[in-house]
This record gives sequence, structure tokens and C-alpha cells, in this order.
Amino acid sequence: MKGIILAGGAGTRLYPITKVYSKQLALIYDKPLIYYPLSILMLAGIKDVLIISNKETIPLYRRLFEDGSQIGMNINYAMQEAPNGIAESFIIGKDFIGQDSVTLVLGDNIFYGKLDYLYDALENHGDGATIFAYRVKDPERYGIVEFNENRKAVSIEEKPKEPKSNYAVPGLYVYDNRVVEISENLEPSARGELEITDVNKVYLNEGKLDVQLIGRGVAWLDTGTPEALLQASNFFGVIEDRQGMKVACIEEIAYKKGFISKNEFQKLIGETPNSLYRDYLARILDEDS
Ligand code: DAU
Repeated sequence: MKGIILAGGAGTRLYPITKVYSKQLALIYDKPLIYYPLSILMLAGIKDVLIISNKETIPLYRRLFEDGSQIGMNINYAMQEAPNGIAESFIIGKDFIGQDSVTLVLGDNIFYGKLDYLYDALENHGDGATIFAYRVKDPERYGIVEFNENRKAVSIEEKPKEPKSNYAVPGLYVYDNRVVEISENLEPSARGELEITDVNKVYLNEGKLDVQLIGRGVAWLDTGTPEALLQASNFFGVIEDRQGMKVACIEEIAYKKGFISKNEFQKLIGETPNSLYRDYLARILDEDS
């Protein structure tokens, strides 16, 4: 299973900061937003990741993650020339994906909670596609899935004016290798984008779309607006302060998942600038000894 993080786009709703850098680098409490979706891939055991972004921002991601080897990963970078749609990820990522299956996560999507079944879906994926559904109060803003009485998905629509349900499709999608070919054959939508919803429709029509409900015990947070960013920061600030544990600390995850050895973790801490973040990593190592 390969992983792709789509982290480009204009991010105009967060202007002026997005004039100089990408929204996925915005600070969510104590770490960049992109750490949160990256940590989901890591927790699902995915080590090969492609970060797709625009030309200006790729150098910043490179500085942040380098080649990923310091956290036992293989992180690659690719450019999206313009925000031509989420499904373009699979065309840009064709060579990276090769013959494998692929999980796509949007760089601005945050998931928090007991996500074991989600990691299971990523780790044991066979044929077809798996997407998720999460109840929201403002369905017209998302891709929306409609279920029949047997909880089987019967339709999926992108930002419908009259939504058929309150179940939004979060930005986390798991596909078999056919997704590349499906995306290559898509026509742009009325707004000129290769829509991820159109990819999902192909799988749905073939009876190959598995839609798993994410329950209300899990937080799926939005980060599109200044209010949403503040809410997300407060949310993780409260949890981290209460527990004394960090959420989406990629170095800790790398160590605990066995991506890096104890020695490598020690070395990584040694190279981390003096900071609260470093103190935290040192404490994790200490508690483990
Ligand atoms: O967040 C989940 C929703 O994401 C889904 O429910 C929708 O079905 C899906 O279309 C998408 O809707 P958004 O309106 O949130 O998409 P947006 O255009 O804002 O793009 C999501 C992220 O992906 C955003 O951070 C920018 C990035 N992006 C987007 C496009 C279209 C790119 O990097 N390149 C692109 O071409």
C-alpha cells in the first residue's frame, strides 16, 4: 500500500497567509497541519508516501521531512501545476503507485479517535475502493453518500444543493490499482476539476465501493477557515494538555511503530533543536526505558 498526501490548492479562504505558504503548513496547536494526515498513514503502517503540492511549497515540505529516512519512511514529492482536482493525484502519482494499491489523504483533513477499523481497512485492502462516511450538519459542503435501508451506499454526489443525507465523505480514500486508469479516463467536471467523487461513482456503479461509517466517537475536523483552524488548535491543545501526550507526533509514532530503532530515535532527538517538542520526545524515550 502506497500513500499520497495531496497538499496543494490555492487555500484562498486563509488569505493572506496563503500568499506565502500553503495552508497545510498552518500551525495546529503545536505542529504543522500536514503532520495530522501523515500520522494517519504512518499508524496504518504505510511507509512509502508521495506529497503532492505546488511548485512554491514543495521546497518547504522537503525541508520539513527531507527524504523521510529519519523517521524510517520514504517520502517523495511531486508537483501539481494547478489545482486541477483531487483525482489528478493518481495521474501525477502513477509511477510512484506502480502496481500497488494506494491510500489518498487530503493534507487538510484531521482524524482523531479510536481509528482501528480505519487502519484495518488500509492495511487489509483487497479489490475495489473503500471510503468513509461521517455525519455532518452542513452536507452541502462535501461529497455526500446516500444509503438504503440496509446501510448500502446507493448514490454519491459532490456538494449537492439538496443533499440526500447528512453523511459526508472525508478526505481519506483507499483504492486498488485501477484508480490510476479510472482517473486517466475522467472528464473534468463543470467546475473544471477531476473530481474524486466521479472516481468513487465508477467504483459504486461496479459494486466495488465499500463505504464504512465513522462513528461520532471520532473527530473529523475541518481546517478550511480561520475559525476552523482555531477550533482544531484548541481541540488538540485541550487533549494534549490533559494527557501530557502529543497527537500526531510523527517521531513518536515512528519509534512506537518500529519504523526506527531506539538508537535512531535517540539520534533524532539529539538532532532536534532545544524546544518543548524535543523535551517531549526525550520524555517518551525516557518513559520507554
Ligand atoms: O474534505 C473532504 C471533501 O474534500 C470531500 O467531502 C469532497 O468530496 C472533496 O471534493 C473535497 O472537497 P473540498 O471542497 O474540501 O475540496 P478542496 O477543493 O477544498 O480541496 C481539498 C484539499 O485538497 C485542499 O486542501 C486543497 C487540496 N487540493 C485540492 C484540489 C482540487 C489540491 O492540492 N489540489 C487540487 O487540485
